[in-house]
Amino acid sequence: MSDFAELSVEGKKYQLPIVEGTEAEKAIDINKLRDESGYITIDSGYKNTGATKSAITFLDGEKGILNYRGYSIEDLAAKATFLEVAYLLIYGELPTTEQYAEFEGAIRRHTIVNEGVRTIFEGFPVNSHPMATLSSLVSSLSAFYPDSYEGKDNSDRHIIRLLAKLPTIASWSYKRAMGHPMNYPKNDLDYCSNFLHMMFSLPVEKYEVDPVVASALNTLLILHADHEQNCSTSTVRLVGSSQANLYSSISAGISALWGPLHGGANQEVIEMLEAIKADGGDVSKYIEMAKNAKTTGFRLFGFGHRVYKNFDPRAKIIKKAADEVLAKLGVNDPVLEIAKGLEEAALNDEYFIARKLYPNVDFYSGIIYRALGIPTNMFTVMFAIGRLPGWIAQWKEMRATKEPIGRPRQIYTGATLREFVSIENR
Ligand code: MLT
Repeated sequence: MSDFAELSVEGKKYQLPIVEGTEAEKAIDINKLRDESGYITIDSGYKNTGATKSAITFLDGEKGILNYRGYSIEDLAAKATFLEVAYLLIYGELPTTEQYAEFEGAIRRHTIVNEGVRTIFEGFPVNSHPMATLSSLVSSLSAFYPDSYEGKDNSDRHIIRLLAKLPTIASWSYKRAMGHPMNYPKNDLDYCSNFLHMMFSLPVEKYEVDPVVASALNTLLILHADHEQNCSTSTVRLVGSSQANLYSSISAGISALWGPLHGGANQEVIEMLEAIKADGGDVSKYIEMAKNAKTTGFRLFGFGHRVYKNFDPRAKIIKKAADEVLAKLGVNDPVLEIAKGLEEAALNDEYFIARKLYPNVDFYSGIIYRALGIPTNMFTVMFAIGRLPGWIAQWKEMRATKEPIGRPRQIYTGATLREFVSIENR
């Protein structure tokens, strides 16, 4: 293979270096293109643009491969804890027993959140969307830990704090929406069990964490932990590239994740299923509507994926977890029956198979969260808890490799220079 690609513009030729990754992914390096030719490139949605080189996550959309630091998602989901995966993503290697004890122990010790943050939370309207409070409160943490922006090199402490406190803050929204007293964390519990305790335990009765539920949550969080340069992750890197502190950068990532085209998709899935139920629950009618999307305008949420062309490896794993959770909890929910009907159609109907409209990770995660009793408007919060180590790892890598500030260009399409007309003459 040649080391250069050749570009010919206006009769002049430019040699653009080829960059190759460790998994043989290839790119054309245009770093010097504008300086040498005066041209920039346009790539709406950055579909063909490698914004960075990264050693964290490898994803092959055609083959359905997702690896974190060289370990397959299948292996990690089956064998690791979420915090082991978090350590792997952030520090590059799986932790030794000692490293894990230190990391996990530090996270346990930092789960409590400053009461001042809680006072801010209490100022929000009771029915605030949990993603609105989550992104605001994460940003507010920078005010409580000013050493995060005072140029001190202590990001490890903030990494621990964020991992420890995000589930605590997330649980507040649920408790308040239910009108129940908030639970303080219990630091003798592991990460997932502690979150379930903060969410579901009530002072009036004994709460025991169901191991099937804790294990499903562990799997879900691992599956969400990183996904290379998607909308929220690139946002975290872009915000962080201005030297903004970790809390503000992660808060920006949470906001990016909120949108229905990104992390909000799992909420859309359940809302779609509820709408089908409210309309009589006729799955076949909606399958026909999806097939005739051009005329009906109906869009199936939770099917297909922007980068996975054949299947989403996370969906395969999560489907198994969904089946286990539903069987264990014996959930009898008409919305989940509708979900099964859609899944069945999508996996067997030629129309869906031909268009690669397979149920994706959002479809199954929505189903599991609903079965666990997590309210729909908190689904994206669950995604954020899972994605946090990935965002942190990407922020840390961006800082460590001293990436320049993100500063895209544009092609201007507005008015050319014109003379100012005073207001009385307009
Ligand atoms: C993700 O996990 O971030 C989503 O699947 C979105 C994406 O990667 O584009």
